[in-house]
Amino acid sequence: MRPIFATISSQALQHNLAVVKQHVTTAKIMAVVKANAYGHGLIDVAHALHEADGFATLNISEAIDLREAGIEKPILLLEGTFGEDALRIAASFEISVVVHQSEQLKLIANAKLARPVNIYLKMNSGMNRLGFRPSVFKVVFDQLSSSHNVANITLMTHFATADEEVGIAEPLKRFEEVTKAISAPKSLANSATILRYPEAHADWVRPGIMLYGASPVSSMLATAFDLQPAMQLNSEVIAVQTIEKGESVGYGNTFTASKQMKIGIVACGYADGYPRHAPSGTPIAVSGQLTKTLGRVSMDMLYCDLTDLSDVGLGSSVELWGNTVSVDTVAEASGTVGYELLCAVAPRVPMKVVE
Ligand SMILES: Cc1ncc(COP(=O)(O)O)c(C=O)c1O
Repeated sequence: MRPIFATISSQALQHNLAVVKQHVTTAKIMAVVKANAYGHGLIDVAHALHEADGFATLNISEAIDLREAGIEKPILLLEGTFGEDALRIAASFEISVVVHQSEQLKLIANAKLARPVNIYLKMNSGMNRLGFRPSVFKVVFDQLSSSHNVANITLMTHFATADEEVGIAEPLKRFEEVTKAISAPKSLANSATILRYPEAHADWVRPGIMLYGASPVSSMLATAFDLQPAMQLNSEVIAVQTIEKGESVGYGNTFTASKQMKIGIVACGYADGYPRHAPSGTPIAVSGQLTKTLGRVSMDMLYCDLTDLSDVGLGSSVELWGNTVSVDTVAEASGTVGYELLCAVAPRVPMKVVE
């Protein structure tokens, strides 16, 4: 068995949920658990976050898995359903669906459902991804309200720039102008909006990344928001090389030593989900000591500098990301965001949940 493994901390997930609660005084919390709970394991995360008020995911199969795992709280499909079969299943499992385009309206109008379905009606407030434009939103709302297939309607939007300098003022104004005349619950806030814009918390917030302890705002560390990493990705040094000045390591010889160096070969590569684009110098910890990666990441291995570390060698523990090395710093070095790295941890990496 290769020594790589990921550990998921229930305590950290619960701590991060408590941080969300501190920010939102009255809003209910819909924990976003799509993409296998951002790579942390759908069912384990849902159980750890049992104090959330609901869960949002993508596929009807994931929603059913949640129901079969005993989750009785509201579940929302963030892209709605694809086809009548899925809509019928959603209705019978009491799964709420986003409605964001006209095909879905037709589907709802014509479907034979066991019971009316709860809907999140989505407005395209400027991101131009999913949703009805503000100009038609009220008409669509009225149409859905009169359908015998529809139970409750929540009004929803999603912001493109909640984590950016420009913020959400414009799209929030667009949303509010149209929805102020409609008496229905509202849901607008992802993690960045929760942390930065209390005026947009409304009735249901939809935190994702902050529950997993990574930062939703690339210019700020998760610790600045009191978030704790829920995932530790660990491995071991499986070989040690001493190289002389002028010698290189790894494919392409992209790192060449300027002095004699001790190199640790770590059992973790891009087939485990570690980013191949991580350059020499990306932070990594060996036996709890911070050091840096060297050379090009291989499929199953990467290289790190052991030269100035004490008491390290074959079998030393390695943290790829977690408490000592935040996933955000690895992401930043690799030109991406923590979201992508967490979601990309490969199925071949054993994952265990701890308290
Ligand atoms: C519609 C919607 N709401 C909420 C979220 C959660 O966002 P975050 O992980 O930034 O909190 C997402 C994630 O992409 C989303 O697509």
